[in-house]
Amino acid sequence: MARALYPGSFDPVTNGHLDIIRRGARIFDEVLASVVHNPQKDPLFTIEERAEMLAGACADIPNVRIESFSGLLVEHARRMDAQVIIKGLRAVSDFENEFLQAHTNRFLDNGVETLFIPTDVAYAFLSSSAVREVVQLGGSVTGLVPPGVEERLAAKLQGR
Ligand code: PNS
Repeated sequence: MARALYPGSFDPVTNGHLDIIRRGARIFDEVLASVVHNPQKDPLFTIEERAEMLAGACADIPNVRIESFSGLLVEHARRMDAQVIIKGLRAVSDFENEFLQAHTNRFLDNGVETLFIPTDVAYAFLSSSAVREVVQLGGSVTGLVPPGVEERLAAKLQGR
């Protein structure tokens, strides 16, 4: 069974993430969308909230499972019996950092491959941080995030 891991902060999930998940789910038997718990980052949403929004967004994709991890990505991939790590590439600017991460992960465990999928051009400019900023400043992100996410962002950011 070919299983892939799609890791990220998903703070919050965007339609760009969802595009990669859907396309990954057409290639692999199962895709694990895996929310990272990174104690060095200070996310807007808790890990439970991020996983919940991700689960809502992926509810119609039968071969996608939502879970979370902390620590090394390759160790988690091994634990979950995932042979491939999927990463989305939006632009050349993503490439340098993703390339370094792919090589670091391969140094740590050369049995886990990284697969880059270019993001749909419609979402090439999209990031969770931009979405957070737009909502915080009163703009609309309709069409950029799955249903319900904009409302949760607005509620969370109110009064900040
Ligand atoms: O959505 P993000 O924040 O860009 O996702 C980054 C993520 C989760 C892919 C990255 O932070 C990660 O792989 N974290 C696990 C720690 C790790 O394995 N580090 C060594 C490889 S660089």
